Formats: sequence, structure tokens, C-alpha cells
Amino acid sequence: MREKIVAGNWKMNTSIEEGRQLVEDILAGMDRVPEGVSLIVAPPFTHLFLIAHLLGNRKNPGLAAQNCADKKSGAYTGEVSASMLASVPCGYVILGHSERREYYAETDQTLLEKIKLALSEGLRPIFCVGEVLEDRESNMHFQVISSQLREVLCQLGPEDFKKIIVAYEPVWAIGTGNTATSDQAQEMHAFIRAFLAETFGDLAESTPILYGGSCKPSNARDIFSQPDVDGGLIGGASLKADDFLAIAGSFA
Ligand code: PGA
Repeated sequence: MREKIVAGNWKMNTSIEEGRQLVEDILAGMDRVPEGVSLIVAPPFTHLFLIAHLLGNRKNPGLAAQNCADKKSGAYTGEVSASMLASVPCGYVILGHSERREYYAETDQTLLEKIKLALSEGLRPIFCVGEVLEDRESNMHFQVISSQLREVLCQLGPEDFKKIIVAYEPVWAIGTGNTATSDQAQEMHAFIRAFLAETFGDLAESTPILYGGSCKPSNARDIFSQPDVDGGLIGGASLKADDFLAIAGSFA
């Protein structure tokens, strides 16, 4: 049985007070989360310490950062290191989100550095891959995804790879309301698993692969019912506790 995970990527949203309220509302509704489903919340950096405190010793929900630096420590104004995140403590870090790749010019090379640093601090990376609409329309989507996997994840050793969570997020589906169909999601998730198996063999069977892109309560059940979809990375809908919990409840 693979892990089932529903992670909320808050992006650059919420004040501290709103973030605190959101977490309290999620905690109050944890009885709606089916047995065996793990939630993760990924608030902005400023909120992490407070939210770690609110979560206390609970394992569920887990806490993720949305990014970390590609350097260990030192004179890098404005950056937050993997070791700082581990000291919060934070258990996960989202890396390679298409918004980071596009707006902050993150390359495969930088992402590999970030992943290695995160792993060395005991953080579990949630590594995002995804194609833009043009890639899909020109039937290049499998090539784009294989290259994103090959240049980063396939460079890791098996012990590190075991800790990875993959998120397939077609860029054309993020924040657009155009979700991938469950068949499109399944097709790509199965492709990702098979591609990773070429390097990591049976370990790829255990890798959670989450779907992201306009996932909401009305479509989550259909998408999560696919055999290679192990949960979701949720943006917009994770900002409402009720929607986030309803999405997690879609596994039932
Ligand atoms: P969305 O974002 O659910 O708002 O489309 C998903 C993501 O970018 O992680």
C-alpha cells in the first residue's frame, strides 16, 4: 500500500492570523480525514514556526515549506536554508514548483542542489514536475516530464529516492480551473512511475505521486480513484479548511 497524501500549498497567501485560523479549522475537522490519509500544510515561511507549535506532536497534518535555498548557509540575503526548516521543525519541502521554475528561473541544476540539501537535513522533498500547454499540444509532454525527472530525481541514490514524493502538476491546469481529466492524470502518473522504475526498480512502486492543478472537492474523487494517483497537491482549494478536508475525504 502506497502512502496517501493530500498537501495544501498556500502559496503567497494568508496573514499570520488567517493562517492560524486555517490550521485550527483543519485540526477541528480531522475526523473527516479517512484512516491512512496524511495531510500536509505548506504555509509561507513566516508562518512555519507558529504552525509547528499549533501542530505540536501530531504527525498528521505534517508541515512543509514551499521552497528552500540551494546553499547551505552564509551570505545569501533573503534565503532560507534547509537546516533552518529542519529546525522549525518542518518535515517536508516543496521543490520545483512550476511557479518557482518560471518566475524565479529555477533550473534542474539548482533543484538538484536544493533536493540534496533538503534530504541531508532529513526533510522529505515534494518534487513537482509538469508540462506547459504548448508541450502537451505538440505531444512533447512525456519528453518534458522525463527530462525533469532524469536531471533531478534520477541523480539521487536509492536511499534518498525512497524519501521523495512526486507531484505531477500540468502547468495549464494550475490555478486555471482546467483540471486534467482522470485519464490524463493516470496516464502521466503511470508513465512517471515506469520511468522512475528504469532507474530505481521496485522502489518506484512505493513512491507517492500526487496530482496538482485545479483539484477541488468536485473532481478529487474521480482523480484519486486512479490506480497511480496517490493524492493531491492543492493550491487554491487548500485555503478553505472545508474544501481541503472535503478533498482529503474523497479517498473514502
Ligand atoms: P491550484 O494549484 O490547485 O490552485 O491549481 C496547485 C498548485 O500549484 O500546487
